Amino acid sequence: MPHRAYVIDEMISAKSIAARVEALAKEITRAFQGTDKLVVVGLLRGSFVFIADLVREIDLPVEVDFLEASSYGDAMESSREVRILKDLRGEISGRDVLVVEDIVDTGFTLHHVVNLLRSRGPKRLEVCALLDKPSRRETAIKATWTGFEIPDEFVVGYGIDFAQRNRNLPHIGKVRFTGEDDSAAR
Ligand code: PRP
Repeated sequence: MPHRAYVIDEMISAKSIAARVEALAKEITRAFQGTDKLVVVGLLRGSFVFIADLVREIDLPVEVDFLEASSYGDAMESSREVRILKDLRGEISGRDVLVVEDIVDTGFTLHHVVNLLRSRGPKRLEVCALLDKPSRRETAIKATWTGFEIPDEFVVGYGIDFAQRNRNLPHIGKVRFTGEDDSAAR
C-alpha cells in the first residue's frame, strides 16, 4: 500500500483522557462492588494503553487477560469478518467480566467478541470502550460505558494505529491527509 502523507491534529488531549479514564474507573468500581475478582479483558492490540491506565484506577481485585480479534489487518475498511487470533488464557464461566475496547466503529468486532464470551457463561459481562463512532455502526451493539463519542474521523494514538503507526501518541489525534507524497508518513 503506498503511503500517503499526513499530519495528525490533536482531538482529545492526554489530560482529558486521563480525567475520563478516572471517571470511568469510578463507575466500574461502583458497578462491580463486592466482586471476588473482576476479569478485565483487553482486546489487542488497540486497547493496550487504555487497559493499562484503566486497571490502575479500578479499586477492585482484578485479573487481566487479553484476546486478539482482527477485522481490519492493515486495511482502512472493516473486512466484516472477525478472526480470533489469540484467545483468553483464563476461564470466564461464572465470573465477572469487563471487556475493554479502544474504539467501536462498525461494531462487528465487539459484537463477535461479546457473543463469543457470553457463550462461555460469565456471571456478568459488561463493556467499556474509550471511543465510540455511533454514525458508523452496522450492528446492534453498545458499550456499557463509553469514554468519548466522536464523529466519523480517522483517529490514531493512545493505542490506536494507522497501518501499525502512531499507537504511541499520548493523545487521540485526527489524521489529515496532505497529499500523495509519502515522505511524512514514514
Ligand atoms: C480496531 C479497533 C477495534 C475495531 C473496531 O481493531 O481496535 O477493535 O477495529 O472496529 P469495528 O467496530 O468496525 O469492528 P483492528 O482490527 O484494527 O486491530 P488492532 O486493535 O490490533 O489495531
